[in-house]
Amino acid sequence: MTNVLTATKPPAMQTPIERNYLDVSGVGKAFRGVRVMDAMNFRMAKGELVSLLGPSGCGKTTLLRIIAGLMAADEGAVVLGGRNITTLPAHKRNISVVFQNYALFPHLTVAENVAFGLRARGTAKGDTAKPVAEALALVRMTEFADRPIAALSGGQQQRVAVARALVVDPDLLLLDEPFSALDRKLRETMQVELKAMLRDRGITAIFVTHDQEEALGVSDRIAVMNAGRIEQFADPSTLYARPNSPFVMDFVGLSTRLHGTVTSHDAGMITVKTAIGDLHARANFPVGTAVLLGVRPELVAPDPDPQMNSVTVPLRDVMVLGSKTVLHGVANDADRVLCELPGIRSGFSHGQTATLGWSIEDTLVYEVAG
Ligand SMILES: Nc1ncnc2c1ncn2[C@@H]1O[C@H](COP(=O)(O)OP(=O)(O)O)[C@@H](O)[C@H]1O
Ligand SMILES: [Mg+2]
Repeated sequence: MTNVLTATKPPAMQTPIERNYLDVSGVGKAFRGVRVMDAMNFRMAKGELVSLLGPSGCGKTTLLRIIAGLMAADEGAVVLGGRNITTLPAHKRNISVVFQNYALFPHLTVAENVAFGLRARGTAKGDTAKPVAEALALVRMTEFADRPIAALSGGQQQRVAVARALVVDPDLLLLDEPFSALDRKLRETMQVELKAMLRDRGITAIFVTHDQEEALGVSDRIAVMNAGRIEQFADPSTLYARPNSPFVMDFVGLSTRLHGTVTSHDAGMITVKTAIGDLHARANFPVGTAVLLGVRPELVAPDPDPQMNSVTVPLRDVMVLGSKTVLHGVANDADRVLCELPGIRSGFSHGQTATLGWSIEDTLVYEVAG
């Protein structure tokens, strides 16, 4: 049976995604002879919300500035909506940027700040009122229109910065750590609001953050960056469940970490000797390979079944966090076993020994330098 709604609006999944609305290819950059970015390729679809996630100094802002035209790449190309904009000046790109420090004009009012973007693009003074009012309504700042910026809180200033960026109806919105100056609760509210607003309006946006939870929460896809390179570019669940390197495993979420050496392999299954016993994983590394095993903490539980990976470890810490209880088991030196149980769990205490286990299928394994 065909229902009117489903007939007129097929699910988004049925539409093939063309990931070349923004196409950054072969981009490189050096500062005073030091290469900070090499052969960078980055593509996204129209309407996508993508996060660049990585530690401080990995090149997130550099990539954003090159896309915005605020900085020239040494080589490579930037194509937006089929148009090569590599050498186009920033003000001709129709790309809006929201900076970490908001970069608002403190002596102007909220409405004047939002109108500034339009005026800079040649909109006549008399024609700014309507789009400014719409942009302020979007960020729920209508009643603050005539206030000076200095009279606003950090969260309100951030809303104005977003309104100023959106009022010009940009082809691409770039946000560089926009919420990093806000406290945790306000940041979470802003994340939910921003995501809904961008989704509703179908805006294509790149969101820079060094906060993995923020990236997982706001994005359709996440590019994890490390030292000027993209380590993995995937949707949040793939990134979390199947990180493709120890760097991504450690940067996105917490994990058990156990180093060891492959002692046998058979039909896609390896046995790894670690300081706290033999463990198994699905992989094909030859005998003698040095590996790092990992597993996400919520996949680890006490009293494992005999066919599971199992270790017995002293507990260094038991953290009762309300919604979850985290057991921190010690393996040796840098190695650890983390177990996260839902809710408040009694019966575990610091210093006791616990037997913890997890499925072989859930075991992540990476080759490392021996
Ligand atoms: N204008 C500049 N002059 C010299 N080095 C720079 C400049 N901008 C960035 N860098 C260097 O480039 C690297 C990447 O910086 P950046 O893109 O700001 O990283 P992120 O935004 O991820 O923290 C860092 O090593 C940084 O020190
Ligand atoms: Mg930065």
